[in-house]
Amino acid sequence: MSTIETYREEFLTYLHKINTVKEPVNLYEPINYILNIGGKRLRPILTLLTCDIFGGNYTKALDAAVAVEVFHNFTLLHDDIMDSAPIRRGKQTVHTKWNVNTGILSGDAMMIMAYQSFESYEPELFKKLLKLFNQTSLEVCEGQQLDVDFENRTDVTIPEYLKMITNKTSVLVACAMKMGALIANSSDEDAEKIYKFGLFLGLAFQLQDDYLDTFGNVEDFGKQIGGDIMENKKTFLYLKTIELANSKDKKQLHNLYNTSTELQEKVTEVKDLFINYRVDRNIKNEIENYTQKAFDILTEIQLPIEKKQELIAFGNWLMKRKV
Ligand code: IPE
Ligand code: IPE
Ligand code: MG
Ligand code: MG
Ligand code: MG
Repeated sequence: MSTIETYREEFLTYLHKINTVKEPVNLYEPINYILNIGGKRLRPILTLLTCDIFGGNYTKALDAAVAVEVFHNFTLLHDDIMDSAPIRRGKQTVHTKWNVNTGILSGDAMMIMAYQSFESYEPELFKKLLKLFNQTSLEVCEGQQLDVDFENRTDVTIPEYLKMITNKTSVLVACAMKMGALIANSSDEDAEKIYKFGLFLGLAFQLQDDYLDTFGNVEDFGKQIGGDIMENKKTFLYLKTIELANSKDKKQLHNLYNTSTELQEKVTEVKDLFINYRVDRNIKNEIENYTQKAFDILTEIQLPIEKKQELIAFGNWLMKRKV
């Protein structure tokens, strides 16, 4: 069994022990549901892996791993409401299976449960972890707000988009890794470097998510394909096409993104424009670039080569993923 698989299984065993349905069931059942229907468990794996890489006992990182995964799932509950998403991980989203109010409150409870997971750490480490986690969660909210604001703006730039995805996604990946380093008591310098590694990996990861949202398939990806187009999301695919398109196509894309229609024809027309300007390939290059930028940081960290290889293998898998 690969190390990644070992971390995933150990994490899941730990998660299942604490993820039980209590009264009132209408609050806890949706929590149990979202935490049980799958997911790659990328962030908790990174917390455990990073702790291990820096010489820590990774079982000490399990509570922080739970915190980051429960927090991530909380953001998904609310994100699916905000994005009107019908499916997640191949199953109905919580607000579709139950209702919007359930999605809001179960999500709120999950955020608190995430914070509760830190209670087991001794005061000095607790403070460090909480400080990082607080800053990260606020940045995630900022990123989510920008993502929503951009739906109604027509002048979004690629740097603005990169700032938005850094906040909504990368900082949590980076935080997951830095928490592992802090628990392993790494040097401050290494903790910062691994944070930067996580930021670049997170950018590649969100770009791949945006790619799969249009060019993936629902069976693997587990989410509705074309959801970003339906919601007028200003992703790299859209912004790059606007940059490259002739005035006729630019106008057409602007018009298509001016409607709130969820019609399949809109998705097909937009997708055709993306393909015409080859931005599906363009985004793949960006994904490779950011993954490489992450790998470059590893050269600045003193670690045995086999430890670096684990991170590189993980980064390469993320870049090629279909799920
Ligand atoms: C989905 O995250 C939300 C993004 C930030 C792209 P994941 O792709 O990690 O979702 P799961 O947990 O594996 O389902
Ligand atoms: C999600 O971004 C980011 C957060 C939940 C904070 P997306 O909206 O792209 O995530 P998916 O595609 O629904 O998983
Ligand atoms: Mg979404
Ligand atoms: Mg969203
Ligand atoms: Mg997405």
